[in-house]
Amino acid sequence: MNASWETLTQAVKECTDCRLCERRTNTVLGEGKPDADLMFIGEGPGRDEDLQGRPFVGASGQLLDRMIHALGMERCDVYICNIVKCRPPMNRNPEPDEAGACIKYLRQQFLLVRPKVIVLLGKVAMRYVLNDVRPISALRGQFIEKKGVWFLPTYHPSALLRDPSKKREAWEDFKAAKEKLKELTGDV
Ligand code: URA
Repeated sequence: MNASWETLTQAVKECTDCRLCERRTNTVLGEGKPDADLMFIGEGPGRDEDLQGRPFVGASGQLLDRMIHALGMERCDVYICNIVKCRPPMNRNPEPDEAGACIKYLRQQFLLVRPKVIVLLGKVAMRYVLNDVRPISALRGQFIEKKGVWFLPTYHPSALLRDPSKKREAWEDFKAAKEKLKELTGDV
């Protein structure tokens, strides 16, 4: 049976299914439009997200907000979440067992939101959603359709902050995601 937002939120808040629960300040489920057509999936909360309990509120979140705004949308028009809901120490990548323990929550979010297009922000999201361990540069910008849902891997915003030369390609990907939505819904 599908969870409701209430049961999902509570389950994540109380979750102790992996070691990441030990050092968290807050869990970070996700936020945005509960039935958004466009979903963004990142890696996991960083320091700011852990403190606020909200996804993508630090420097990379501000860049993500600017890119969404440049598409003519706002954070409240899309749904934003992560592979893991608790901060990995020192912002390391989630370990496979941590992602494995947490992925059930992402599945439930997916079933509640039912997005049409999902932008995978970075290698970690690509790895755990598409089961593909190739470098992000090998797949970015290529849509992958699964059961009527269109997945688009692109660079993580923190990679764009580290290497601004990647911004042009990432922006092309964001525009392609919007175009795909337009094609699918006819009304964006
Ligand atoms: N990086 C992520 O992948 N997710 C966040 O929520 C913040 C930074």
